[in-house]
Amino acid sequence: MRTQIVAGNWKMNKNLEETEALLSELSAKLPDTNAEVIVAPTFVNLASAVRHLQSSVVQVAAQNMHFEESGAFTGEISADMLLNIGVTTVILGHSERRSLFNEDDAFLAKKVQTALAKDMRIIFCFGEELEERKNNNHFAVVSSQLKNALFNLDTAQWQHLVLAYEPVWAIGTGETATPEQAQEMHAFIRKTIAEAYTPELADEVTILYGGSVKPTNAGEIFSQPDVDGGLIGGASLKCDDFIAIVQAI
Ligand code: PGA
Repeated sequence: MRTQIVAGNWKMNKNLEETEALLSELSAKLPDTNAEVIVAPTFVNLASAVRHLQSSVVQVAAQNMHFEESGAFTGEISADMLLNIGVTTVILGHSERRSLFNEDDAFLAKKVQTALAKDMRIIFCFGEELEERKNNNHFAVVSSQLKNALFNLDTAQWQHLVLAYEPVWAIGTGETATPEQAQEMHAFIRKTIAEAYTPELADEVTILYGGSVKPTNAGEIFSQPDVDGGLIGGASLKCDDFIAIVQAI
């Protein structure tokens, strides 16, 4: 089902006290909205975040997980561990995981399989690098990222997927895709899904834009017909900025 979502990816920021303070402020100030609002604190603060948000509409997601069930994988977190503390949504494929931790499409496909087997919802990130856009290769890159990690899934499994198009050159750089560039790529993503599956499925999938979304540009980006919301990094760490972005939807 196509829904509007604003999700905050906190990355490796905020200790326990800071996490709880931001969550309290966010819950108190959050206006009425039709959008789903999600935050993704670090692993060590997830359990506390879930408890803290028990009576709030704000949902909690994990920033990553491993595809193995359990075992000798030092430093990793399993799907069951997340589910056990009440986290049912996971971000997979973020460009920082891809570039800094060498997660490729095949590795991500395994994570997707595990998350789906566990009935989790996935926010699946992908997007081209600057060089790829300069070489006019961005459509080919995005379609192969989707194909390699997701196009083996059946239609029912797609109900658990949210897509997040995040051009790497726009993440944390202050450089945002123009609303036209975002719309062009989101429309291309729907066309690619329509060709691989059905136009109905392509129309139903929620597709977020991410990359330097701020209060000043969120409204224009979110008003594009194929943009259903945003995955927000830096601006999600400041309550008033994040709220303003939620209000822009
Ligand atoms: P940014 O990050 O908003 O700081 O560019 C977006 C993201 O990494 O999801």
